[in-house]
Amino acid sequence: MLILSPSILAADFAVLGKQIKEAENAGAQYLHIDVMDGIFVPSISFGMPMVSSIRRVSDIVFDVHLMIDRPERYIEEFARIGADIITFHLEATERPLEVIDRIHGLGKRAGISIKPATPVEAVRPFAGRMDMLLVMTVEPGFGGQSYIPESTERIRQARRMFAERGLDTDIQVDGGITVDNVHVALEAGANVIVAGSAIFGGDIGNNVRNMLGAFHKFEVG
Ligand code: DX5
Ligand code: ZN
Repeated sequence: MLILSPSILAADFAVLGKQIKEAENAGAQYLHIDVMDGIFVPSISFGMPMVSSIRRVSDIVFDVHLMIDRPERYIEEFARIGADIITFHLEATERPLEVIDRIHGLGKRAGISIKPATPVEAVRPFAGRMDMLLVMTVEPGFGGQSYIPESTERIRQARRMFAERGLDTDIQVDGGITVDNVHVALEAGANVIVAGSAIFGGDIGNNVRNMLGAFHKFEVG
């Protein structure tokens, strides 16, 4: 199934609860939550208190994207405050397998994310262990950037890598996805789509419906 995960980084935090409801009511299945520490990426977004607050107003699947150095320091805490999927960056830790095992030990789904310059091959040792691979389609750190065209081949390569092993691991894409280019990522094999500006810029309900409409068009060919 194709899944839409709107990124709240592009939301208006003054009315965040209301905007999340709008996205959820229009049919978004996940909520993408970008945590940035100012070290692994240049910017700082938000942290645990924010995640706890929104957990109280929504039952949607929390898809937490940790753009933080040494994510192993915070796995338990994000699990406790309501993350359902915890995705960390391969580049940010020396102990990816341990991180995956700890996420699983807490009953959560584990994702590994790779930046545009990290070869897809680098995640091969973890195929079969992770629930989701996040192929970044922009340099992580900021919303509102343009999709990097070379990402398409990387998504294909990842889909082939999983297929060769008989795995149908989720492949998530994040960065610069719009209703006009999403078919490119879907055709290449992505099935979990993050979109920030394309969802929270303008009428959220309409934007979600349009994106789900693009998914449907892709599925029926
Ligand atoms: C970027 C974040 C993204 C970002 C996407 O580092 O990981 O999730 O919010 O925003 P758009 O869809 O605007 O590129
Ligand atoms: Zn993200």
